[in-house]
Amino acid sequence: MTLPAHVRIVEVGPRDGLQNESRPLEVAQKVRFIDALSATGLSHIEAGSFVSPKWVPQMAASAQVFAAIHRQPGVTYAALTPNLQGLDAALNAGVKEVAVFAAATQAFSRRNLNCSIEESLRRFVPLMEAAREAGIRVRGYVSCVLGCPYEGRVEPEQVRAVVRELYAMGCYEISLGDTIGVGTAGATRRLFESVAQDVPRDHLAGHFHDTYGQALANIYASLQEGIRVFDSSVAGLGGCPYAPGASGNVATEDVLYLMQGLGIDTGVDLGKIAMVGDLICQQLERRNGSKVAAALAAGLRGPGGASARRASRGWRPT
Ligand code: HMG
Ligand code: MG
Repeated sequence: MTLPAHVRIVEVGPRDGLQNESRPLEVAQKVRFIDALSATGLSHIEAGSFVSPKWVPQMAASAQVFAAIHRQPGVTYAALTPNLQGLDAALNAGVKEVAVFAAATQAFSRRNLNCSIEESLRRFVPLMEAAREAGIRVRGYVSCVLGCPYEGRVEPEQVRAVVRELYAMGCYEISLGDTIGVGTAGATRRLFESVAQDVPRDHLAGHFHDTYGQALANIYASLQEGIRVFDSSVAGLGGCPYAPGASGNVATEDVLYLMQGLGIDTGVDLGKIAMVGDLICQQLERRNGSKVAAALAAGLRGPGGASARRASRGWRPT
């Protein structure tokens, strides 16, 4: 398949990234982080989630975060909502796009949402209705599409059934999550081939965690399957509290470098993203998980890297 001229990056660092950090950030720090990301050319930032604070305490202040960020025109600021209660809270916080999340396996669904797959889908029905009435779009996620920490192997057919339901209930796009980062390029291709029999490829996205270091290969395989939207996290932050041992999302910096090399436009400035990544890692006192960020910091010249640094000279996150 011909590679696309453009792909959309969904930056999930402020949500998928920060939900898993043991070191809590102040609301003001999160706001500065999201505002800095807003100035990099990103068009889609997942900025928080309206879930039970008992389940994910790191996201408890999402309403305050949404109240304080400086929303830029052309940027979508989205939030996760597991149920109607979450949607109501998101709407009260002025959120204009939400995401529901289901799982491909029963065991992960129970750990993450405290209910079966079928029950989670039933809960989404009134949520979808309320979102429609409020005039906001709903994205969907399916977790554990290439492996489950509790059930092991996951067949494409299991994923396909859940994706089909989310699409039928009105999710405009469904992101397939390799939650524990065990997928390979071959498995990724087989998965999208299967799912695309029910849902058009331009309504699908890839969400790869990088535990086995295969995320970029999986993204390249997805591109060959006609997928045009990828979730990533600056500095490779991330993980799911209910998927122990899984590493962060693929780093946004690394995805941008891959796209640059393929001549695919993302609209996002790699140099600016790398600076935001450095900044957030300093605040979290954690290692930067992006290989591209490390290469840029070391001043290594690559076809995209060196020019990206020069293009952004003088720019500082606000
Ligand atoms: P539950 O305990 O079964 O909920 O949790 P419940 O309906 O029985 O309510 C219990 C308490 O939770 C009540 O409070 C409710 O008010 C409260 P209490 O009376 O005990 O004080 N509650 C809420 N509070 C705030 N916001 C809400 C909400 N709903 C209920 N929306 C529930 C069920 C779904 C709430 C819980 O399991 C939950 O919050 N799960 C979210 C887990 C989560 O956020 N996981 C990480 C995100 S998913 C992910 O990372 C994967 C992804 O990145 C893709 C991939 O990588 O695969 C997207
Ligand atoms: Mg994730």
